[in-house]
Amino acid sequence: MSTETQNIIIQKIAKSKISEVDFSNLAFGSVFTDHMYVCDFKDGEWQTPTIKPYGPISIDPSAKVFHYGQAVFEGMKAYKAEDDSIWMFRPEENQKRINFSANRLQMPSFPKEMFFDGLETLLKLDRDWIQKGEGNSMYIRPFVIATESGVSASPSKEYKFMFILSPAQSYFKGGGSDVKVLFADKYSRSANGGVGAAKAAGNYAGQFYPTHLAQEQGYQQVVWTDANTHEFLEEAGVMNVFFRVGDTLLTAPTSDRILDGITRKSIIQVAQDMGISVEVRNVRVSEIVDAAKNGTLLEMFGAGTAAVINPIAGFGCKGEDYTLPKLENSYAMLLRKRITDIQTNKAEDKHGWRY
Ligand code: COI
Repeated sequence: MSTETQNIIIQKIAKSKISEVDFSNLAFGSVFTDHMYVCDFKDGEWQTPTIKPYGPISIDPSAKVFHYGQAVFEGMKAYKAEDDSIWMFRPEENQKRINFSANRLQMPSFPKEMFFDGLETLLKLDRDWIQKGEGNSMYIRPFVIATESGVSASPSKEYKFMFILSPAQSYFKGGGSDVKVLFADKYSRSANGGVGAAKAAGNYAGQFYPTHLAQEQGYQQVVWTDANTHEFLEEAGVMNVFFRVGDTLLTAPTSDRILDGITRKSIIQVAQDMGISVEVRNVRVSEIVDAAKNGTLLEMFGAGTAAVINPIAGFGCKGEDYTLPKLENSYAMLLRKRITDIQTNKAEDKHGWRY
């Protein structure tokens, strides 16, 4: 059946797939809800969007996304609180960032009102898929791809903006308690003036091979270092990174090369609210190795929408392995609790982050 709201054509699924899903055992990003949102850009403007049953889309094989990688995305989450209300966390930040990323790849902005109208309508339609309880959320993947056919290397004149929804638990297999990272000393993720600060699909493809090499050595993620000297720690593959040396939290400043993570900036704010000292500055590989050797490196953790705040159990650097202590009241766990309580409407939201 097809209905039309004021702004969106809605085609509902005949029979929901929800009863086939084991919500207690979800591999990250592997299950999708009943519906998806699609909006095409043609003749210089965004057309009337459609919400339709989740499924394959048809695209010409010569479409520019396949050949030149004109594709950007976002990662967001929605949470169901105990009283069944649905909350998102700082979604305006994602909305701004997808347009920043799109513009960096010479793609058109997607209007804010359409973004929120589409997202809210889709979430309401598939709200039964949003599970309550600790660790559960709905991962929202907005993305834009270049759909114009033709292999001339020039920006597409046609695009698809889509939202797909995936019920989620932990990003890392086994809950993420054992994540080890490798500090990069050969490959790089991004360079000054490049696309590192954008959520461009290709930024992730470029990491797969070095990450695969790291995985063969027993690490789950690479922590990228600056491309010029490999002396400064930047971000991990799917997370920004924090280091606790003594009682101080350190993290690299954002730049052309580093994603301006929403979880990252929320952690900086919440840590400061809790009276934790935070230094946002260039972090040397050598100071972290020295701190690990002299026992002052107490914690490392990754932060991102998908990963939330994930403690790092140890790291590898230039052939040496370093193990971090297991702390009772770690900053990672304190901050994770505070942030997830804000996200799920359990704690005061003094910065107005819930939506
Ligand atoms: C997110 O945290 O939402 C990300 O975009 C990382 C993703 C590649 C899983």
